[in-house]
Amino acid sequence: MDYNPLLPAVQNNPYPYYAELRDKAPVAWIAPMQAWAVSRYSDVDFALRNPRLFSSGLWNTAASGDLVAVPEAPGLLSMDPPDHTRMRKLANKGFTPRLIREMEPRVKKITQDLLKPMAGVTEADIVPTLTVPLPIIVIAEMLGIELARQADFKRWSDALVQTLNRPTDETVRTEIRRNIAEFRAYLENMIQRRRTEPSNDLITAFVQAEEEHQTLTSIEILGLTVLLLAAGNETTTNLIGNALLALLNHPDELARVRADRASVPALVEEALRYDSPVQVVFRQATQDVELAGGKIPAGATVLLLLGAANRDERKFPEPDRFEVARNPQDHVSFGYGIHYCLGAPLARLQGRTALEALLFDCPPFTTTLAQPPRIAAFLVRGPRTLPLRFAA
Ligand code: HEM
Repeated sequence: MDYNPLLPAVQNNPYPYYAELRDKAPVAWIAPMQAWAVSRYSDVDFALRNPRLFSSGLWNTAASGDLVAVPEAPGLLSMDPPDHTRMRKLANKGFTPRLIREMEPRVKKITQDLLKPMAGVTEADIVPTLTVPLPIIVIAEMLGIELARQADFKRWSDALVQTLNRPTDETVRTEIRRNIAEFRAYLENMIQRRRTEPSNDLITAFVQAEEEHQTLTSIEILGLTVLLLAAGNETTTNLIGNALLALLNHPDELARVRADRASVPALVEEALRYDSPVQVVFRQATQDVELAGGKIPAGATVLLLLGAANRDERKFPEPDRFEVARNPQDHVSFGYGIHYCLGAPLARLQGRTALEALLFDCPPFTTTLAQPPRIAAFLVRGPRTLPLRFAA
């Protein structure tokens, strides 16, 4: 069984491959990726905790090749300390717990508005109706994008997500570049405006963010905004899709959650562990590193398999069982340490809100497709489509 994350069969169900990697080759050379894969929880955890040994510098190019939207400045995700430390402190100012709490009524309202057209409908694909638009509308509102530009914004954000799959088709690449250029022009203008006309939005928070006399430059704000879109939309979509799919394939668990609304936060955590929306993060070894008996040479690309770590039986008993009551607090779906997901509270809020609305405000549902096709990507994991059938 050869683990090649570029193959559709592996992307469809990577878990048997991960199990074999953890048992037989916890640090393995993956030729098609020209990288070392790390699959056991303790080793992934170790690498995440040691940014000095495992640099994030490769992230941009490893994920997107040469289609980088803001090449002028390295993004937060691909920075190492001390640059990362400064930038992260400033970025945190836009994602305070208070700000996320304040978003709650809006997230609920957006969810209800998206579900409204489904009233009385017996069958609907929940991916285009709810899970895709929800995070895009939420982040558009947080950034302060005008309503009239929200359709453009969707197109721009799709283009950014596409860069992560390293497209090779020249027509596709040209289209992506055109969208990125448009998006940049729009945002650059907006960042300038917010400097003189502050508003109650994220761009303003970034413009005003100051820590020890340091502020963010316009190009850094642009980079951060692009990262929020690339990192926050498809991931949140997949969290909701994966959670629903896990429930539909485990009717006992579905019944238990339905009987106890307070278990929804635990559902979100177990869904994150069981089927991680981000399967892999990139690192680069800064020196020769011994890990799980293997030796990773200095300079090598390293894939930390979050999805494999979350199913490690050395950490989680019976890891292939989906069990909401487990309520795991130490899965690595949001990473760990200095790069821990900036948007985790926002993702959790959206996950909880969407699942509560579907489970408690809609008629009971089943799916007509228990094994839907997965998104064709090795980095992210989620159903491409999820048709639900609602009881009349
Ligand atoms: C379920 C949804 C999400 C998942 C599974 C997820 C996962 C992750 C992971 C694994 C990392 C760490 C990457 C690394 O260590 O190299 C990360 C970082 C990050 N995420 Fe998320 N994310 C989600 C939602 C969001 C949202 C909604 C936003 C913002 C709107 C966001 C913004 C970011 C940013 C800015 C970083 C970089 C932080 C840093 O490098 O310091 N994410 N995310």
